[in-house]
Amino acid sequence: MFNPLVAALIDALADPVILVEGQRLMAINRAARDQFGFRLANSDIRLAIRHPRVLAAITAARRTSLEVEGLGRADQPWLVEVTPIDEKVVMVRMTDRAAQRAAERMRVDFVANASHELRTPLAGILGFAETLAEKGAMDEATRRKFARTIESEAKRMLRIVTDLMALSRIEADRYLAPRMEIDLGALVRKCVEENRPLAERRGCAIATEIEEGVPAILGDETQLLQLADNLLGNAIRYGCTEGCDTVSVAVRRSGRDRVRLAVSDKGPGIAPEHLPRLTERFYRVDAARSRNSGGTGLGLAIVKHIAERHRGTLNIASALGTGTTITVDLPIAR
Ligand SMILES: Nc1ncnc2c1ncn2[C@@H]1O[C@H](COP(=O)(O)OP(=O)(O)O)[C@@H](O)[C@H]1O
Ligand SMILES: [Mg+2]
Repeated sequence: MFNPLVAALIDALADPVILVEGQRLMAINRAARDQFGFRLANSDIRLAIRHPRVLAAITAARRTSLEVEGLGRADQPWLVEVTPIDEKVVMVRMTDRAAQRAAERMRVDFVANASHELRTPLAGILGFAETLAEKGAMDEATRRKFARTIESEAKRMLRIVTDLMALSRIEADRYLAPRMEIDLGALVRKCVEENRPLAERRGCAIATEIEEGVPAILGDETQLLQLADNLLGNAIRYGCTEGCDTVSVAVRRSGRDRVRLAVSDKGPGIAPEHLPRLTERFYRVDAARSRNSGGTGLGLAIVKHIAERHRGTLNIASALGTGTTITVDLPIAR
């Protein structure tokens, strides 16, 4: 009854598609069968589709599109597009909007979070600056204390803005494969040296273990340094607490075609419910603790994006009371 080419054509589409003539269901593609369980045996469209607005749009047989929920699973959003293809037949195409909605929500949340993170130190700066500007006596010690607070809050804002800029630069380069040949061992040694003062301030030793003859990887040096620095900085800041005074960094070959960077500590660890959210922007386990140690909540988001751009894989293993090990596997340059 139907041209087999038409059937093959709509089957090839990934979205659910049906063809309707009047109130009769004429063709159903594979995706529509899988997603909604539509069957031609129930050839009355009203038996297949119970959504009143969608049904009305189909039977009106005019070109329209509408956003609806409750077509299949109750909370799933769909875009339904009705397109007449001749005087009798309309094509109905349904596009899953869940991913798009989630991306939109993430963008809105991100702007809200970023504004909040910047507003808090800014409010502090304004308050102290106003107090300093007011006439009236103020002893030197108090004046200096206020000025210091302004300075540290401004530095916090600068760290946030710097991290946000780094994130957007990494995202902009997302589809651009990095091309520099990088000796990850040497890069990690440099990172360890840069973190030495921080570690010393906290009475923390860094154990470094670089395997001999690890092949070069293709990478972006600045970004890989950022990645290693964020991981090592976290291990020192959060993992070097009472009862644990050493963090370790290792570079070794992983399987035939990858190099592994592993940063671990034997600190308090991270509860399992936080693990899936750690790489979200501004997500912190303990916000006050992160802020006090100069954190922006963006470090692991930066790490994740850099690992992705390098076609690497990031793994976070942590348990309360045992410590944390974060590994990044990066492909060897061919
Ligand atoms: N090695 C670690 N041990 C314990 N907690 C950690 C460790 N690394 C990261 N975290 C937790 O993950 C959160 C997010 O880390 P990150 O994205 O680097 O942000 P920031 O360090 O700026 O707070 C931190 O606030 C901290 O709570
Ligand atoms: Mg951090």
